[in-house]
Amino acid sequence: MLRRQLVQAAGLTAMALALPLAAHAADTFKIGLILPMTGQQASTGREIEAAARLYMAQHGDTVAGKKVELIVKDDTGLPDVAKRIAQELVVSDKVNVLAGFGLTPIALAVAQVATQAKTPAITMAAATSAITDASPYMLRSSFTLPQASVALADWAPKNGIKSVVTLVSDYGPGNDAEKYFSERFAANGGKVIEKLRAPLRDPDFAPFLQKVRDAKPDALFVFVPSGNGAAVMKQFFERGLDKAGIRVIGTGDLTDDEQLNNMGDGMLGIVTSHHYSAAHPGELNKKFVEAFRKANPNMRPNFMAVGGYDGMHMIYEGIKATKGEGGGDALLAAMKGLKFDSPRGPVEIDKETRDITQDIYLRKVEKKDGQLYNIEFDVIKQVKDPGKAKK
Ligand code: DHB
Repeated sequence: MLRRQLVQAAGLTAMALALPLAAHAADTFKIGLILPMTGQQASTGREIEAAARLYMAQHGDTVAGKKVELIVKDDTGLPDVAKRIAQELVVSDKVNVLAGFGLTPIALAVAQVATQAKTPAITMAAATSAITDASPYMLRSSFTLPQASVALADWAPKNGIKSVVTLVSDYGPGNDAEKYFSERFAANGGKVIEKLRAPLRDPDFAPFLQKVRDAKPDALFVFVPSGNGAAVMKQFFERGLDKAGIRVIGTGDLTDDEQLNNMGDGMLGIVTSHHYSAAHPGELNKKFVEAFRKANPNMRPNFMAVGGYDGMHMIYEGIKATKGEGGGDALLAAMKGLKFDSPRGPVEIDKETRDITQDIYLRKVEKKDGQLYNIEFDVIKQVKDPGKAKK
């Protein structure tokens, strides 16, 4: 009896071992996920990978008869590395789709590979408007800085903020945030006293904040990428800018859910505009946050996580619509125009621009269950990327 069981077990093991070898590449759908898993942007990589794996755990790893395989590669935050990885993923691994891209320069580097290889690519994190213009194969599940900034420029002058200094990271998304916030704020009668840009890599915010102190604006407007907000705010409080009566506003990158609860009660009352808060009241979001935390104890999903989760949804819908047969162009066509309910609210992938249309919320940092959260208090429905509307 025991012997027969052993023989059977051995037979099953042999079969299980042989299967992956026998499985033809065509039975597999491969996703190349290029993320910063180390370096300054590592929290973005962690959040997106966790969300992508959660999506697969919830929806299964077989879609339209295809086994979905996730290949995660660390770009270390460097565009040259990302480009080489993207080429390898396309040529050697024969991935069906590329995704991830924690920083704008990385999304732009991968866009070139996507065009050459006619392989769809989904920006799940980076947020410069121009990214989706860089390749006809590029789509986006994150957001754009123009989209997030304009709502705040409408809110601020109506709420006692007549003058601002802007402080942004000096690269694509920072330049977008500065431009779209400032233009709209000025059009609403506000005054932009000074525009400051800090380097993206290892920034020292102290000299910039000294300038802000001297300029004495009603508020400081800040954009820094996900994971860098705590460093700015620490310096802000240490230099007593809050005591000097200078308020802080920004896009929600500053009050990133991943960091917010460790940034201290000085954050209470700070108003930002963004597309996602872990405290968003929708039923879908409650389930998402709960499942994410269960799968990743000690982690709170942030806007990067929701970009990863929704990017996976776009891919799964693309595979289903092409009945698993989707090559680059068919898959791309299937993902254009998709409309779905995200944990953040309703979204649509614009057919023409391949960018995401979504609700933008005004939120205030408040305490809920003893923790700091971005609590939404107003919404602007279905905002298209203003960076595209200008053309
Ligand atoms: C980008 C990166 C971020 O972490 C973020 O919060 C917004 C934009 C970017 O590089 O595009």
